[in-house]
Amino acid sequence: MEPLFSLLFLLLLPRPSWLYSLHNCTLYSTDPQKIDCNDNEFYRIPSDVPKSAKYLSVSVNNIQLIRQSDFSGLTELQMLDLSVNQISLIEDAAFSHLSSLTELNLDNNRLTNLTDHMFTGLSNLTVLGLEYNKISHISELAFVPLTKLQELSLRDNLLSSISDIVNTVSLCPLLTFLDLTKSPLTSFESEQVPFPLNITELDLRLTPLRRFSLHSDVFPRLQTLHLSNIFTNFQWDISDKAFLKSLRTLDLSKIAFSVETYQLIFQSLESLEKLSLSNGHLNRGLLDGACGIQTLQTLDLSYESISVLNDSLLLSCSNLTELDLSRNSLKDLGPSSLQMLTRLSRLNLRRNRLTKVPLTVRNMSSLTSLFLGYNRISKLRCLDFSGLHRLKVLDLSENKLTNLNSCVFQDIQSLQELYISENKILYFDDRFGITLPNLLVLDAAENNIEELQTGVFRNMTRLTDLELDSDSATKMSVNGGTFDGLTDLRTLSLSQVYISPAGVGPQSSSRGRSQLQQVFNLPSLQTLKITVFETCLIDWTKDLFQGLDNLKVMFIKSSFIESPDSKMFHHTPHLLNLEIRNTDEWLPGPELFQPLTVLQTLDLSENHLKSVDFLSEANLTQLQTLKLQKNDLSVINERVFEALPSLRYLDLSDNPFVCNCSNADFIHWVIRNKQVYVNGAYQYRCESPPSHQGALLLEFDYRWCWESVGFFCFICSSALVLLTLLPTFIHHFLRLHLLYGFYLLRAFLYHRQQRGRGCAEIYDAFVSYNVHDEEWVYRELLPELEGRQGWKLCLHHRDFEPGDSTAPFMIRLMLMFITAPLFMIRLMFNHSSVYDQADVQSHLGNLGSIIRINIYAPCITPNSISDYLILNVTCK
Ligand SMILES: *[C@@H]1O[C@H](CO)[C@@H](O)[C@H](O)[C@H]1NC(C)=O
Ligand SMILES: *[C@@H]1O[C@H](CO)[C@@H](O)[C@H](O)[C@H]1NC(C)=O
Ligand SMILES: *[C@@H]1O[C@H](CO)[C@@H](O)[C@H](O)[C@H]1NC(C)=O
Ligand SMILES: *[C@@H]1O[C@H](CO)[C@@H](O)[C@H](O)[C@H]1NC(C)=O
Ligand SMILES: *[C@@H]1O[C@H](CO)[C@@H](O)[C@H](O)[C@H]1NC(C)=O
Ligand SMILES: *[C@@H]1O[C@H](CO)[C@@H](O)[C@H](O)[C@H]1NC(C)=O
Ligand SMILES: *[C@@H]1O[C@H](CO)[C@@H](O)[C@H](O)[C@H]1NC(C)=O
Ligand SMILES: *[C@@H]1O[C@H](CO)[C@@H](O)[C@H](O)[C@H]1NC(C)=O
Ligand SMILES: *[C@@H]1O[C@H](CO)[C@@H](O)[C@H](O)[C@H]1NC(C)=O
Ligand SMILES: *[C@@H]1O[C@H](CO)[C@@H](O)[C@H](O)[C@H]1NC(C)=O
Repeated sequence: MEPLFSLLFLLLLPRPSWLYSLHNCTLYSTDPQKIDCNDNEFYRIPSDVPKSAKYLSVSVNNIQLIRQSDFSGLTELQMLDLSVNQISLIEDAAFSHLSSLTELNLDNNRLTNLTDHMFTGLSNLTVLGLEYNKISHISELAFVPLTKLQELSLRDNLLSSISDIVNTVSLCPLLTFLDLTKSPLTSFESEQVPFPLNITELDLRLTPLRRFSLHSDVFPRLQTLHLSNIFTNFQWDISDKAFLKSLRTLDLSKIAFSVETYQLIFQSLESLEKLSLSNGHLNRGLLDGACGIQTLQTLDLSYESISVLNDSLLLSCSNLTELDLSRNSLKDLGPSSLQMLTRLSRLNLRRNRLTKVPLTVRNMSSLTSLFLGYNRISKLRCLDFSGLHRLKVLDLSENKLTNLNSCVFQDIQSLQELYISENKILYFDDRFGITLPNLLVLDAAENNIEELQTGVFRNMTRLTDLELDSDSATKMSVNGGTFDGLTDLRTLSLSQVYISPAGVGPQSSSRGRSQLQQVFNLPSLQTLKITVFETCLIDWTKDLFQGLDNLKVMFIKSSFIESPDSKMFHHTPHLLNLEIRNTDEWLPGPELFQPLTVLQTLDLSENHLKSVDFLSEANLTQLQTLKLQKNDLSVINERVFEALPSLRYLDLSDNPFVCNCSNADFIHWVIRNKQVYVNGAYQYRCESPPSHQGALLLEFDYRWCWESVGFFCFICSSALVLLTLLPTFIHHFLRLHLLYGFYLLRAFLYHRQQRGRGCAEIYDAFVSYNVHDEEWVYRELLPELEGRQGWKLCLHHRDFEPGDSTAPFMIRLMLMFITAPLFMIRLMFNHSSVYDQADVQSHLGNLGSIIRINIYAPCITPNSISDYLILNVTCK
């Protein structure tokens, strides 16, 4: 009966849209309250956004209008991103439902006018983005509801009057950041600001600004001012140094003012700490002026075109603590060009053309961070970092290094982070090993390391993060002693790893796989990432992961997992997150996952899996997130997912689904189940049968699958119901006919029984009549039939002895007059042979026009007179 009920339900209910069937949006698997509806060509806000959403992004669509009803009910929403649409109109109070909203992004739309009621109700908004619109007018009260606004970006709009802007934003007492980049503002004068603002950061980059003048203290809290990329012809007019007493950061990059202007500017700044200067025309005078600001600590000289930094350029800047010389064309630095910077702690030389570590950095004992990434350094000399006893961060990524000599690091024993990714390193110093006792992070990814021999990390005992993965095809040989001593290691990533016996390189140990040993003796390791593109590098044996007792996250990307041992994860029972990708011909058994009793996230995407039935016996009771994208799953058995009691998120995107009845239960489950969100389900497409290729899976009308079975059941059960009802109907409406049939039968039987016996007396007819008709019977019927026609009639009152029940008698004809006016005569015949229909008709001709007489001939007793057979005579 179950299909029948389902059928009835289906016929009665419309298709609903639950949270679990979001149409074109997706939920983040890590945070189901984050909804991503980006890039869908939407013309309006999707209506199926769950009310519990906290973050909603509807960016990159075609929305033109925001309606009042668009966000109703989304009272939990905190962040709303509507950027990159065509919004030109926002209905009054359209955001008024969003009482929890703190961030609203309307960047890249077509707004021209900010009206009074546009932002009504956004009383908790702190960040408002209106960049890249066409706003030319802000109504005076537009920002009144935004009492908590802290950051406002009006970058790249058409607002040309600073007083209009100030008048509107002054209603937001907490506003600290105002971005007016690229606005058509030609001057900024304190007279345009009627009262002091609380702004701490003002961005006026890329404006056609010609004048900046302060004659009153309108920015008592201004800390950061951006004036980069403005006109060269610029007037700076500050009548009192105190007006910029809070200014700490000034961005003057990409402009070239006159010497006088720079002087005016530097003289008006008495507490500046950070200055960006890059105009391509750097000279000693300019730097002397800038470094003349007593408080200056950070100088940004990036994007210059300095090719050689001579020894005198920075002479006056000895108090700097941070210097940025990145993105220049530096080939070399004078041998003492930085030596005067005795307080420098952070030096950025990234993205230059250095071929060796500049001599001048030696002995800079104050240095804690040194960035040399993206240069052309091919060799490190033993003394390159001499004297850098306080260095904590060293970046050498994207250079041309081929090896690392241990002597290089002898003075930088305080080093905590070393970045040497994207070089061409083949091996670490193999004779002495590198001693960096305080190193926490070593990023050596994207190199060509061939071998990591025993004990190579033994003197880096505090290491917590080690990156050794690479896209290169170089096989990296590790052995049982490679990771010795890394008791604090938390994160390890490896690629093309080849496990060889201790002390033997890959060339000499092609049979090494048979002599496997424990490689990962890393008791603190939490995250392990292994990428292998080639076959047979790793034997996925039972004990491969032995020693990883605390592993929580494992990513395996392997183009080949050669029959993994079903006990492979026995040593990692605390795994929370497991990802296995890119395997060929892999069919895991349920035993593989059974040890993983606390697993929460499982990603088995891109594995050519044809079935996931193994999951139903895998005992993954804690599993919440399951990703199975890009497999070969065509028919899905939804019971697998029902066997995962904690499952909340499922992703089956990009599988070659088949649109036939085999998936009917799965489709139904996707739409109806209220526990598991199936990500992107409404975009799943069918690969087969050919008639449905490219069709949307969830649009497959699976109901008919059930109805073909259901219809049969329906017919059967309907028949049963009708059969039950029929007797009742018959009894109700046809009782008399039944009775009639019953008596007919009885009489027939009785007659057969009596046939041989003979009857005591024979009457021609028995006359039954109503008392009211007695007069008519005696006056008209008797004289006619007995008198004139010679019948022998039997009349109840005249011929029966009361109580005489024994003697049967025969009646040839029974005349029954129920009521004369009805003209209904019921007759009972004895000898049908004697009285045929026409005969009786002619005998009774005077009594009315009898049309049809049914004849029968029983032999009856007076007691059974009530059982007499009633035969119909139809009269005119
Ligand atoms: C989802 O997107 C498709 C095409 O991109 C569109 O036809 C459909 O109407 C969208 N669904 C909803 C609910 O907006
Ligand atoms: C929004 O602000 C009001 C006061 O303006 C406050 O009572 C309420 O708790 C805030 N709501 C949220 C979700 O922050
Ligand atoms: C902007 O709005 C104001 C007031 O609502 C109106 O007077 C003005 O014409 C509008 N401007 C544009 C360009 O729509
Ligand atoms: C500046 O902030 C103070 C409180 O910190 C507030 O009283 C004052 O109104 C604000 N000024 C403006 C112009 O918003
Ligand atoms: C150092 O370089 C600056 C600018 O590159 C230049 O103005 C100055 O004359 C040079 N000084 C010496 C001593 O070469
Ligand atoms: C460096 O700072 C000290 C105080 O810390 C100051 O006396 C000295 O003048 C500053 N030097 C320059 C060049 O600004
Ligand atoms: C660094 O300092 C040491 C002694 O402290 C000295 O011998 C050496 O010459 C210095 N090197 C440079 C490049 O200044
Ligand atoms: C590790 O450091 C110790 C001294 O701290 C030293 O004796 C030993 O040789 C170093 N080992 C390697 C492999 O460099
Ligand atoms: C599944 O786990 C439960 C407890 O979490 C355990 O009792 C049961 O034996 C496990 N079943 C299998 C087949 O491992
Ligand atoms: C659906 O298609 C698959 C694959 O073509 C096939 O194995 C299965 O028998 C089909 N199911 C039904 C009910 O036709």
